[in-house]
Amino acid sequence: MRQNGIIIALDGPTASGKSSTAREVAMRLGYKHLNTGAMYRAFGLYVLQWEIDPADDEKRAWLLDRVYIDVDENGNTLLDGTDVSAKVEDPKVAQMASKVSVFPDVRARLVALQKEIAKEGGFVVDGRDIGTVVFPDAEVKVYLNASAQVRAFRRHKDIFEGNTSLRISDVVSQIEERDRRDMERENSPLRKADDAIELDTSNISFEKQVSKIVALAQGRIEVEDPHGR
Ligand code: DC
Repeated sequence: MRQNGIIIALDGPTASGKSSTAREVAMRLGYKHLNTGAMYRAFGLYVLQWEIDPADDEKRAWLLDRVYIDVDENGNTLLDGTDVSAKVEDPKVAQMASKVSVFPDVRARLVALQKEIAKEGGFVVDGRDIGTVVFPDAEVKVYLNASAQVRAFRRHKDIFEGNTSLRISDVVSQIEERDRRDMERENSPLRKADDAIELDTSNISFEKQVSKIVALAQGRIEVEDPHGR
């Protein structure tokens, strides 16, 4: 077993509830949470702050060279030492994160960081390519899924609390477009790892999906470390 426990990889499409699930699972296991989407968002925020065209190879390389992204004890994302967890929720930042995440140099840098942060285990890591690329040797791999309609409904409720003129059908289209972009990109596309367990959360409660993953993880921890070192 790794020094601090196992690695639980949690992948899935946009608005599948990965991050809130990962946070809760980590809390119940006494593990840490690494939100890799927030790291891509932090780099997106950095690009916006510097007002640089992310498609400019030279300038992007310059930014990658000087950026410093990390996570603190509580799973908050730090950009140059400042907690940007709230800032990266801005839709403009999400849009830029989606743009920057297609570049191989950005992915290589962030994947290396993610490996370094979580390699000793005791982590729930959520993202798109965790079970396939970042930690293909993760002890537990879960692929969270839900229909585009269900995800749109949850997102709509989350962001606007019902107080918007944006129609659910528009949110469904946005989500389907994000899915297409994530699944069709050349570099580390979103894909269920062959050995991941797929959990369709369309018709189950948050509590149920969390407890299922916790049970899976506890089973594996027991196998890895039967005497509970
Ligand atoms: O999960 P999220 O919406 O916070 O992710 C933000 C963006 O980062 C999203 O467009 C997909 C990308 N991403 C990625 O390419 N690989 C990851 N491991 C996590 C996120």
